[in-house]
Amino acid sequence: MDTTQLRNRFRDRFGSQGQLYWSPGRINIIGEHTDYNGGFVFPGAVDKGIAAEISANGSRQVRLLALDQAECPFVEFSLDDKEKPQQHWACYIFGVCMEMMKRGVSIGGFNAAFTGDVPLGAGMSSSAALESVFAFAINDMFASGGIDKFELAKVGQATEHNYCGVKCGIMDQFASVFGKKGNLIRLDCRSLEYEYFPFDPKGYRLVLLNSCVKHSLGNEYNERRESCERAVERMAQRWPGIETLRDCTYPMLEAVRPELSDTDYRRAKYVLDEKERVLAVCGALEKGDYETVGKKMYETHWGLSRDYTVSCDELDFLVSIAQECGVTGSRVMGGGFGGCTINLVRETLYDRFISKATRDFARKFGIEPKVYQVVIGDGSSKLQ
Ligand code: GLA
Repeated sequence: MDTTQLRNRFRDRFGSQGQLYWSPGRINIIGEHTDYNGGFVFPGAVDKGIAAEISANGSRQVRLLALDQAECPFVEFSLDDKEKPQQHWACYIFGVCMEMMKRGVSIGGFNAAFTGDVPLGAGMSSSAALESVFAFAINDMFASGGIDKFELAKVGQATEHNYCGVKCGIMDQFASVFGKKGNLIRLDCRSLEYEYFPFDPKGYRLVLLNSCVKHSLGNEYNERRESCERAVERMAQRWPGIETLRDCTYPMLEAVRPELSDTDYRRAKYVLDEKERVLAVCGALEKGDYETVGKKMYETHWGLSRDYTVSCDELDFLVSIAQECGVTGSRVMGGGFGGCTINLVRETLYDRFISKATRDFARKFGIEPKVYQVVIGDGSSKLQ
């Protein structure tokens, strides 16, 4: 990412130069809405993210310049403030500061400017990129890197929970901090054990199609989580020790079905189905069997659409076109309610698919989907 403009704007605003940091957004091959259910996910960092320039200012004030926020690009708060800022974007940074302080880091005030090339509200975790870049930078500047990477990811997640109203799992922040070029990460969200998984599907391309339906995760996301928790509660009454849907089986779920609403039942069932699919995809990836990977991606999509109900007409349309064209796999990616589909496409089919998807989508919805080729990149870092 070219940081020239960032450097110039920082210097113009604050009169000196600071240190540059960077954190990426992410993709996820499979394992959707499994992280907060103690399951597995399969994300990777992308080469798009957020860059921030920061310098300590010797006060208790945090002065922020958001290059991409036309309406209110400048916000200032004190580290001693009890109330979060009014601007939503600034709450992410306020939250990160507060969460770092809770972990014993003695932060001082700082000046910061930031900008990004990860699309906002596209399901590629722009908010995790923002949290991670500030958590990483604050750790480097005020704690000599003493907070470990797991904790940095948890700082981002806690920021979402406590300052932004989204009860998310750990996947996005984890991928942003731990990303590794050319590798997906198989993460067990219960134990936080993880393994890098080289990903270079010869003869295939990974491409995202942005439906341009802007998603913002909030109540509807939290409601999905609550459905899962209600199902777990029921099962735990009969089988003590059950903590998340990870611990549950189909017979257990069937046993409590009469006590659950149909909505809660279907959501919990989706999670159990997804658990099986993730395992199948792990096996298939080890063998380089991308056709099976793709088949499971479609199953995930229709599960997310019909049972978990986090899709929308635009996303279903894009996945249906992929299916019609014979694309290997396609599904909504991330939290849902808009954003992107992730597509695993044979190279020989790529051009035909993209032009058909673009044309048909524009005809139906009056707007062209945006196309992003996926490059799997590194996680948070200090830039030179
Ligand atoms: C969002 C959340 C993640 C995860 C996904 C769905 O991206 O931030 O924690 O739950 O949705 O898989």
